[in-house]
Amino acid sequence: MGRLGLPHLHLRETGSTNDRARALAIAGAPHGTLVTADAQTSGRGRQGRVWSAPPGHALLLSVVLRRPPALLPLHAAVAVAETVASAAPSAAVGIKWPNDVHLDGRKVAGILAEGRPQEGWAVLGIGLNVALRIEDLPSELHGTAATLGLDPSQRGAVLTVLLAQLERALALSAGDLLDAWRARDVLRGREVRWTGGAGTAAGVDGEGRLVVELDGGGRTALDAGEVHLGRA
Ligand code: BTN
Repeated sequence: MGRLGLPHLHLRETGSTNDRARALAIAGAPHGTLVTADAQTSGRGRQGRVWSAPPGHALLLSVVLRRPPALLPLHAAVAVAETVASAAPSAAVGIKWPNDVHLDGRKVAGILAEGRPQEGWAVLGIGLNVALRIEDLPSELHGTAATLGLDPSQRGAVLTVLLAQLERALALSAGDLLDAWRARDVLRGREVRWTGGAGTAAGVDGEGRLVVELDGGGRTALDAGEVHLGRA
């Protein structure tokens, strides 16, 4: 798909790097345009959630992609997971459908893909907890968030690895992508529940949907939303 990271706009503070990148995309910015920030005042997560990160300690970035692949969130999750694995080689790195990246069972990175596929562009936003201290996050995240535990000065090196991994993951065929994704799937074979039901996760299908064997028999495929582990 081409090189990522140029031009590169770095901001000390912005509302949301995704919003800046979206404005640049609409104005015609080329494929690969990168927006990074030390801090966001209104960082956004999936499903309308807030994304919080103490200033200067997380990698906060958004990339403009022209002709994005259909399974962009899965390509991105593979790239982020490989980046995390190279920075934390002795840790267990997994992907929780659809695209949360986990380090030893806790979320270390989130991905927010937005855009206008019919107009041929997307913005891929990634927040990766490179150097933050868990105690600096809102208290409700203390039990669920992870960090690479690196020095803030290493964010640039992690960014370089991440951009290379993104280029690599975006070039994967659909089959190779799904193989790479499944190798890090933390839900497969585990009990899950969501607002509409409960069952056992059975992997992702070719459209990126989560396949679930339902408790009452039969199967379903979830194409959006959130699932939780366990029954409680
Ligand atoms: C999620 O897990 O819900 C997705 C979180 C995505 C956060 C990143 S941080 C950089 C980019 N700018 C945003 O406002 N959100 C994404």
